[in-house]
Amino acid sequence: MLEKKELILILDFGGQYNQLIARRVRECNVYSEVVPYDITIEKIKEKNPKGIIFTGGPASVYGEDSPRCAKEIFELGIPVLGICYGMQLMTHILGGNVARADKREYGATEVNIDNSSVLFEGFDTKNNFLMSHTDFVETVPEGFKNIASTDTCPNAGMENKERNLYGIQFHPEVNLSVNGTQVIKNFLFNICKCSGDWTMSSFVQDSIKMLKEKIGDKKALCALSGGVDSSVAAVLLSKAIGKNLTCIFVDHGLLRKNEGDEVEKIFTEQYDLNFIRVNAKDRFLEKLAGVTDPEKKRKIIGEEFIRVFEQEAKKLGTIDFLVQGTIYPDVIESGLGKSAVIKSHHNVGGLPDYVDFKEIVEPLRSLFKDEVRKTGLELGIPENLVFRQPFPGPGLAIRIIGDITEDKLNILKEADSIFREEIANSGLHKSINQYFAVLTNLRSVGVMGDERTYDYTVALRAVETTDFMTGVWSRIPYDVLDKVSSRIVNEVDHVNRVCYDITSKPPATIEWE
Ligand code: XMP
Repeated sequence: MLEKKELILILDFGGQYNQLIARRVRECNVYSEVVPYDITIEKIKEKNPKGIIFTGGPASVYGEDSPRCAKEIFELGIPVLGICYGMQLMTHILGGNVARADKREYGATEVNIDNSSVLFEGFDTKNNFLMSHTDFVETVPEGFKNIASTDTCPNAGMENKERNLYGIQFHPEVNLSVNGTQVIKNFLFNICKCSGDWTMSSFVQDSIKMLKEKIGDKKALCALSGGVDSSVAAVLLSKAIGKNLTCIFVDHGLLRKNEGDEVEKIFTEQYDLNFIRVNAKDRFLEKLAGVTDPEKKRKIIGEEFIRVFEQEAKKLGTIDFLVQGTIYPDVIESGLGKSAVIKSHHNVGGLPDYVDFKEIVEPLRSLFKDEVRKTGLELGIPENLVFRQPFPGPGLAIRIIGDITEDKLNILKEADSIFREEIANSGLHKSINQYFAVLTNLRSVGVMGDERTYDYTVALRAVETTDFMTGVWSRIPYDVLDKVSSRIVNEVDHVNRVCYDITSKPPATIEWE
């Protein structure tokens, strides 16, 4: 791991905003990590944080299985900020009283503030923050002082200045809380005495140094998809170990128009690494012939991807390190409970079995997606790659409804390229988060000149979203849609109809399969 000068530990008690707290702290240029609430005292000491934040959570401190932490945490001399459930837990453990209100307090709420507290330095005596709770602190623990209240919540904030322990009932991390980040800043800089020297450029320098030390003259191998994460990981590694890095780019032929060539061009012309492109389209199309079930398509592509990668890797002999583009949300999310599988999103179904490597390196393991992009820019990766819209691992295979043939693939590539071109021309690419064409399995009657046609229908999909878990269909102006439609029908053979998908997610998903 990187040697971190300053760390804020965020103990996860199951609240929905936990990642957001970590992000807010990092936005203040202080590195933060989310860890399970039951982290041991030894581990905390080992990590040596400048401060600890307890997140909110859905439990009640009186619940039988409610998540708790050890009392010793408050005796380490490390500042602690408890948010919502975190404040209630601090109260409960330190001898105060938590009670249940008759009804939930929810929404942006006016909070009366004691702005002589360092936590609220610079605030007026009233401020709107998001409250979302049923339990509340009825009596603060001994040694604590009340520093905030609302009409219905007598203790919306508390402090024990001598011991550097603070609690707030509201959520400073969400946008609804006015100046919420300032509360976090005050905790970081006034109380934890952080200096705020975590920047992407320091991350890049530290990572390169660490990777150089770790890998030295040994060999590393990276599976490059052309997506943002694997590209940034590869470039970071290449800066550290140069030609000792080999990247294998498995081109399954299901990428967008010209995409394979673009990836090859960037990596062979701009970076000092060994680049192997495997053109495996025929192999993939053979395996996919006649397959219509979306999950089956994903599985076949995932497996075949590994087989191709293994075959190439074997030729290289023993490899010391395998590079993976894992990013922080993957790490946090994999630690949470199971939710229903709507789609099996992982295009690579695990690690290759037969590649002989000794260790895995995950240089982006601690970064959020926007930090990965910033790292990419720091490394000089072209903007069009860094800000590339998400593209699914199985590629166009899940945008061709029904069975896949080479002809259908070519039709879709052309139609999709026109759509993307016109979205870029209209400047809408900055506000639409994902947009693409789908080749439906539907053929219908049309008329071209004096001729009857019986050709495919292309659907256009464009969504605005921040997390890709929910999203709304984008209100693209009619004239842009009109241009895209007439260009597709005129320029792409075998398409005589274009539809625009006006369903949001939920109930639809972003991809059609
Ligand atoms: P859905 O269709 O589930 O998509 O609303 C949400 C986001 O995930 C992407 N997606 C995938 N990514 N492999 C991937 O790597 C997949 O099989 C896959 N299916 C969907 C989709 O493009 C969107 O960004």
